[in-house]
Amino acid sequence: MPISIKNADEAVNVLGQVIYIAGTQWGDEGKGKLVDILSQKYDVIARAAGGANAGHTIVVNKGGESQKFIFHLLPSGVLHEDKVCVIGNGLVVHIPTMLDEIHELKEQGIDVTNRFFISDRAHIIFNYHCEIDRIQEERKGDNKVGTTLRGIGPAYTDKISRKGIRFGDLKNFDTFASKLRKNAEFYMKEYGFDFDIEEEINIHKDALELIDSMIINTTEYLDNIYKEGKNILTEGAQGTHLDIDHGTYPFVTSSSTTSGGVATGLGIAPNRLNTVIGIAKAYTTRVGAGPFPTELTDELGAHIQQKGREYGATTGRPRRCGWFDSTVVKNAIVLSGITSINLTKLDVLTGMDSIKIGVEYKLDGKTINFIPSSLEDFEKVEVLYEEMPGWKEDISKAKTFDELPENAKKYVNKLEELLGVPINFIGVGVHRNEMIYK
Ligand code: GDP
Ligand code: IMO
Ligand code: MG
Repeated sequence: MPISIKNADEAVNVLGQVIYIAGTQWGDEGKGKLVDILSQKYDVIARAAGGANAGHTIVVNKGGESQKFIFHLLPSGVLHEDKVCVIGNGLVVHIPTMLDEIHELKEQGIDVTNRFFISDRAHIIFNYHCEIDRIQEERKGDNKVGTTLRGIGPAYTDKISRKGIRFGDLKNFDTFASKLRKNAEFYMKEYGFDFDIEEEINIHKDALELIDSMIINTTEYLDNIYKEGKNILTEGAQGTHLDIDHGTYPFVTSSSTTSGGVATGLGIAPNRLNTVIGIAKAYTTRVGAGPFPTELTDELGAHIQQKGREYGATTGRPRRCGWFDSTVVKNAIVLSGITSINLTKLDVLTGMDSIKIGVEYKLDGKTINFIPSSLEDFEKVEVLYEEMPGWKEDISKAKTFDELPENAKKYVNKLEELLGVPINFIGVGVHRNEMIYK
């Protein structure tokens, strides 16, 4: 049965005790905004994967003025002062960045003391990981991924090759220090850079005093919370097509961004996950290199970039822009079990004479429903488009679907028909209240 949601108050009843908010494209779909809205109704907000490569922007109204927050590591739900935030085992965390984020929030009047926990199994990103990230990108030359240079790939590499250092290791500090020395010495030799190991050890010694009580077994914590009947919102980072397994490899990040990543990255078993909401921008963007079939490299692309303020929240890089690609989002629906969509930034398309939608892929004359694994094949894919008439009316004040102009409604209905999943939330502006529930 298709779900229908009238307002945020109704969310838990309809969506269930444990939900996941997933990016359906290549990241920056606007996940943070829905996380922030639904966090009002959830007790614990947890992240399962990635690190400070994420940039989730939230704009709130305080005393009549817009206040903007960008979260890289902390779950976006942290703005609600009665909520607990969790960093799961699936993350890779640069501790100084995390402490900066906590500090900046405190300066903005938000204290996370006693309501922020990190998994003892989460891996630590050291400064040498960032250095390696930079060198690896440089060596790739024209084939570079365009990473955020936050050390994500190198830290996950250590994790997979079983030499990673985890938060729990900090608690046995001598062993921690000797592991750190060994890894750093290896990489200094391997990549030929200088690195002050003792300073890195001291940074972490100081940090431990601040974060010791935050490091816990988050799986056990979440299991207890679940059994108490509390509600858990898991916040996606990156997007489906940046997934290490299912994304446009090798132009991907190094973590699992689909709902499977919630199970492994938080230790929440799949059968506890009630609903996965997919976040899809009303068009498509991508930051960094890699294939993007519906990309607009003309003035129209530049117009969307400028109107949608499409500049990376983490790196400030301009995001590449293009038409909505239904194959991309449909693949995400399959991969994460998405049963509800939040279409975001519909307002950015206002003013266009007509809008195109990528409705089908053809490879060598045959329809294909999934993105091919080979980049060569993906490059050959022909996208078939459907063109829809645009609308000129300002939609940012619309509170209900019926208040949207006819052509905007037709566009949303067309996407819903193509995706086969209800669009229950429609973003029409940056603010919390600029959201239509459908
Ligand atoms: P995330 O990484 O998925 O959380 O997305 P980002 O924060 O990186 O990028 C989304 C951007 O779009 C942010 O600047 C948001 O403030 C903004 N945004 C989110 N929803 C809407 C919307 O419905 N309309 C407009 N105009 N902006 C939105
Ligand atoms: P949010 O959570 C958009 C991209 C980078 C690069 C690739 C690999 O804000 O949606 P990495 O530093 O992870 O090794 O970079 O992945 N990327 C993102 N793009 N939004 C993100 O996060 C991203 N996180 C990583 O631009 O192309
Ligand atoms: Mg982002």
